[in-house]
Amino acid sequence: MHVSTLKEVLPGEAKAIRLENGHSIALFNVEGRIYATDNQCPHMGYPLTRGAIRNGILTCDWHGRSFDLEGGGCFNNQCNNLQTFPVEVRQEEIWIRLDESPYSQRDEHLRLLWEGLLSEDRWTISKAIALLLKGGVPEEEIMEMALGHLGRHIASSDDTDGSVRLSRLVNAFEIGRRYAAADRLMVLATAARSVAGRAAERLQVVPLPGPVAWESIDRWTRMFSRDSQDGRIERCLFTAWRLGYQNKVLPLLYECAVEPHFLGSGESLLGLGYLAEVVQNFGWDKSGQLVFNLGARLVGRRRGEPERFRRDAVSLFTSIVPEIESSNPSANSVVDYDEDALIVALLSANVQKSFEAVVDALKAGVKLDRLITTLVLLAADRMARTPVNVDAGWGVLTTELNLAASLRTALRHGNDRVAAKGLFHAAWQLFADRWLNIPLRPLSQPLDGGALDVRDEQSGVELILNSIASLHVQDVGRQVLEYLNSGYSGDRLLHEMGRVMLWDDTNVQILPVLRTVFDEWYRSSGLDAAMGAGHPARRQLLVGLARYATDIRTNKDSGSATNTAMRFAEGHTTVDVFEQ
Ligand code: FES
Repeated sequence: MHVSTLKEVLPGEAKAIRLENGHSIALFNVEGRIYATDNQCPHMGYPLTRGAIRNGILTCDWHGRSFDLEGGGCFNNQCNNLQTFPVEVRQEEIWIRLDESPYSQRDEHLRLLWEGLLSEDRWTISKAIALLLKGGVPEEEIMEMALGHLGRHIASSDDTDGSVRLSRLVNAFEIGRRYAAADRLMVLATAARSVAGRAAERLQVVPLPGPVAWESIDRWTRMFSRDSQDGRIERCLFTAWRLGYQNKVLPLLYECAVEPHFLGSGESLLGLGYLAEVVQNFGWDKSGQLVFNLGARLVGRRRGEPERFRRDAVSLFTSIVPEIESSNPSANSVVDYDEDALIVALLSANVQKSFEAVVDALKAGVKLDRLITTLVLLAADRMARTPVNVDAGWGVLTTELNLAASLRTALRHGNDRVAAKGLFHAAWQLFADRWLNIPLRPLSQPLDGGALDVRDEQSGVELILNSIASLHVQDVGRQVLEYLNSGYSGDRLLHEMGRVMLWDDTNVQILPVLRTVFDEWYRSSGLDAAMGAGHPARRQLLVGLARYATDIRTNKDSGSATNTAMRFAEGHTTVDVFEQ
């Protein structure tokens, strides 16, 4: 390609050329010879035309990375090579041969991502992901690397936040499917950042020598779970996998997690749900290490001495378990039932009443999904109405919501009895949150409120997004409800609200709730009343999300690293970014 003339690149000078696709190329005239390289420094995109050349070595002006001007090799440790192009001078014209070959830096960029994950460097992670996506590397492969890293990080550290990190990764992956381009990159970069951290090699877990029957693994795992011996559980699970019993692993872990002594440890159920999704998305080979290690930690966790209320609740639940074990909740099919009466009992601050009401609903044949819908919408309704002037209780309210929704995963990957027992864990969470000052409201009643006073749907969306961005938590809930009352699209509003939340610096924190609201909103938009179709409280999913996101927002834009990384992947230099 003809790019310039000799007259335009004087001896000792450099010149930047902009290609049609926006890519910037640097031409150098050094000791009578013309060189052509990518103009963006592989480190952070600074224009190399501003660099210095000595002995055939080009040194970037910003952080001093240096490169072989001819071959592009980088002399610094942990630095990508610079792309160079063959040059031909025909009479006075400078021609360069552009690399038309397909994307060839996949391994280099995967290594860069690996480095970013280890060093917890946000820019490196964002840059690597932007380059990989630009090169057409499937996001599953990027997530696989993040997942492998998380597995090693959790297994080799004392990080007690393993399931929180996993939840961010899994939820970001799922949310990312709903977005495209920069939004998608933003979510993936957020996901990868949230699993970054040190990771060391550890001794390989080896299976127990045979013969070992599944019945023994099952019995031992339950015993070790009761005794809080997570290391022994891990070895049992690893053995199960080696013997081909992997499909029995998650149901067994679920059975352990819903045991009465785990009342008050709802995070285990949440964590198992995410592990189940990881297995579903990436298969056992890619996720085994994580499932065995984190799964063992979740069901082998220490529980501490229970206080009086929890002790009573554990023994009450223990006395109820045989009834659930002998029942067949999968046969339950009732959808219309006295939901408000159940809610009065759940919020009565009386565990006995609460648990008995759940037992009665199960005995009356109410479908498990219908009961889960009640718990999900109750949590959403509480988020939509919790007073925000003192402590809104977002931490526990979002646990109520996510825990309730995770029972659907328990139903899918555990079994019916697991999900039925999970209802008691969700009921306990409501009891534990009895300090929240949210007035009781019959969930089955229509919501009040008029229509939103705006010209059209677009103005309504803008008004709400503006309220979120300007932290108007007192208005935003009412506005969302009025928007929906006006018959405007909830799907569109959710999508737009999600985008605003993803680009805020609280995005990591909000991922699990955003994912739950997405799932539950779409689940309830069908015709199945058991899933919440036509339920009057359904709108509270969006109202609660908007209030939560607005109240925890800190009004800082964290998207700049990702934005810059996108521009970098497009071949723009940092100076271009600054200039624009
Ligand atoms: S060394 Fe070139 S941008 Fe950092």
